[in-house]
Amino acid sequence: MGDAAAYDRHSRRLLRSFYRGVAADIARVAPTGARILEVGCGPGHLSMQMAGAHGLDVTGLDLDPAMIERAQGNVGRPDSAMGADSAMGAPTFVVGDVAALPFPDGTFDRVVSTLSMHHWADPSAGLAEIGRVLRPGGRAMIWEFRPGVVPLHRHVPDPAEHARGSSLRVVGVTPWRWPWRFSLAQRIELMRDQNPTDDAET
Ligand SMILES: C[S@@+](CC[C@H](N)C(=O)[O-])C[C@H]1O[C@@H](n2cnc3c(N)ncnc32)[C@H](O)[C@@H]1O
Repeated sequence: MGDAAAYDRHSRRLLRSFYRGVAADIARVAPTGARILEVGCGPGHLSMQMAGAHGLDVTGLDLDPAMIERAQGNVGRPDSAMGADSAMGAPTFVVGDVAALPFPDGTFDRVVSTLSMHHWADPSAGLAEIGRVLRPGGRAMIWEFRPGVVPLHRHVPDPAEHARGSSLRVVGVTPWRWPWRFSLAQRIELMRDQNPTDDAET
C-alpha cells in the first residue's frame, strides 16, 4: 500500500462517512454479541467504528505490519470512534494474510472487508479462507469499487468467480451510495453454506 501514515491521515478524513455507513449496515444485520473479523483493516477506522459506536466484538487483520501499528495507535486517540473509552471493547488488531487466516474454523459470525479485495494476490484463496473461518450460515460482506468507475481501480475481482469451489456463495451485489449521491462502490454479500449435519438438526 505504500505509506501507511499518509493513508491513515487521508482515510480518517475522506472516508469517515463511508465507514459510518458500513458500520451501521453491519450492526443492523449482526446478531447480538456477534464476532466480527475485518480483513484488510488498514489503520483500523472501520473496526473502531464497529466496536466504538455499535459495541461489536471486532478483530481487524491486515497484511501490512505498518497498518496494524497505526491501527493499534489509533485506538487511544481521543478523536477515534473509540473516544476516551478505548479500553472498553476495543478491537484486537493482528498482522496476517487473508489467504492464510490465523483463526480456527467457524470462529466468526461476520467477515467484513472494504476497498481491500482488489489488492489481494489470490482472491480465490482469500474467499476460501473467509468461508473457513465463518460459522455455518455466517456472512461475508465486502465493499469494493464497482468495476471501471475509478480509473486506478479498473480491475476489480469478480467475487462470484473467485468464490467458486469455496464454501461461500454470492447472495447479493448492490451499488453502494458513496460518496455523496454517487455510487462508486458495491456491496457484495456472500453466505457460508450450512453444514449438512446442521440442516439435519434444524
Ligand atoms: C486501500 S486499503 C483499505 C483499508 C481499509 N479497509 C479502508 O477501507 O480504509 C487496502 C488494505 O488491504 C490490505 N491488504 C492487501 N492485501 C492483503 C492480504 N492479502 N491480506 C490482508 N490484507 C491485505 C493492505 O495492506 C491495505 O491495508
